[in-house]
Amino acid sequence: MLNQDQTPYADAVKAYAARDIEHLNTPGHQVALDAHPGLTEFFGVKILDLDVQPFVDGIDYGTYPTPLDESLELAAQAWGARKTWFLTNGASQGNMMATLAIRNRGEQIVVQRSVHSSVIDALGLTGLDAHFVYPSVDKSLGIANGVTPAALDASISASPHPVAAYIVTPSYFGAVADVAALADVAHRHNIPLIVDEAWGAHFGFHPQLPTNAIRLGADIVISSTHKLAGSLTQSAMLHLGNGPFSDDLEPLLDRAFKSLQSTSASALLTSSLDIARMEIATCGSTTITATLERMNALREGFALRGRFHDIAADLLLHDDVIDIDPLRIALNTISGGISGHEARSILFSEFGILCEIATHSTIVLLVGAGALPDVDRILEAFHSLPLRADVNVPALELPAAGERVSIVRDAYFAQSIVVNADEAVGQVSADSVAAYPPGIPNLLPGERITRETIDFLQATIAAPYGHVRGGASADMTAFRVVAQ
Ligand SMILES: Cc1ncc(COP(=O)(O)O)c(C=O)c1O
Repeated sequence: MLNQDQTPYADAVKAYAARDIEHLNTPGHQVALDAHPGLTEFFGVKILDLDVQPFVDGIDYGTYPTPLDESLELAAQAWGARKTWFLTNGASQGNMMATLAIRNRGEQIVVQRSVHSSVIDALGLTGLDAHFVYPSVDKSLGIANGVTPAALDASISASPHPVAAYIVTPSYFGAVADVAALADVAHRHNIPLIVDEAWGAHFGFHPQLPTNAIRLGADIVISSTHKLAGSLTQSAMLHLGNGPFSDDLEPLLDRAFKSLQSTSASALLTSSLDIARMEIATCGSTTITATLERMNALREGFALRGRFHDIAADLLLHDDVIDIDPLRIALNTISGGISGHEARSILFSEFGILCEIATHSTIVLLVGAGALPDVDRILEAFHSLPLRADVNVPALELPAAGERVSIVRDAYFAQSIVVNADEAVGQVSADSVAAYPPGIPNLLPGERITRETIDFLQATIAAPYGHVRGGASADMTAFRVVAQ
């Protein structure tokens, strides 16, 4: 009987690393310290020792259950899943995997319009025809939240033969949607609910945290374990729920996993998933209590000083938001007399404090499960930021999506040409273009380009610290469109 305080995979890797092995195998550094003094100096010998290739007897190969099988089973138990896969290319891989698997069930899908760009890329790869469901948007702050059960219900009903519904929660700003009700809606329509819970890998490991999506009835959940649950960057998990679709979905997910996982998956990343699961499952309730105390002290400190307004209460006014992730604080910086971008930049360069993201009007700080932020240092730094007289410009309004002319894949693979911005208006985009943060595409392959979207992208890139991903030119003066 396995217990959550065990780490079978990480233990097996460690035992292997401790053996005296004459390496005639990959990785080609072969822990040859003389040949690789640079690697050794940078990483230390231990990392090279633990950098074990896949398919090693007694680690991930051999009679079932291998230590890897046991660790996967422990992870599934910890999140309440029927089965879990360890991913070494982030939640982006999880989104690809879920989409690839679901494509087997048919050609149409209902997708939240504000999904991460990896879902849009997956639509391009699979050729799924997406019917979009729109989240509410906080216009004053220029941020998108989640979707309501009613909006999902209407979209599923309006879509001819959807094979799944794909939503994202929590949002970048910590807004949590009603997953139980959304799962009910999907199941009433006899389709599975896929939840991109990239930002909620820590959910369910403390009574004051929201319950995780698997336990609320979601069928497939993508979890970016490295974001707030303590594993190394790029490591993630995909969980399969216990609902009515799991028998069908399991082999499809297995196949999609094999198509997308490297045949040289990193043992370092995989070990970190095993250890992070053990830590959050066994100590989560105590370590997260300490983190929550610090976050509450931070919130109280901001409220007491009154300069920066916490937007949690504003987010909760939207009917698609039922909870807020307490390990995240999103502040309105305009109320504090400085843009979010400038605040983030000064906090890093002058105070050594690095916040997760900023927009013109907000800044988001997050703290991983169990971590302990220095409350006084943070409050002191925030309240030393300069006041700017000219900051109170209205937030850039998110543009409405352009008319959909084709599915993502048809436009993505179509013959295309690059035209200047004026010529692009009215033509069909061949690219996905997303203002960062939060990386939610403003323009999709197959959507008609509008003046409003171009103005938004150009204003984003012209603003200090503005960043846009995708597009045919860095300054948003040219766009790739489908050739007529
Ligand atoms: C909602 C959402 N899903 C998926 C991802 C991709 O996660 P990863 O960086 O682990 O690939 C992100 C990244 O920020 C995200 O915000």
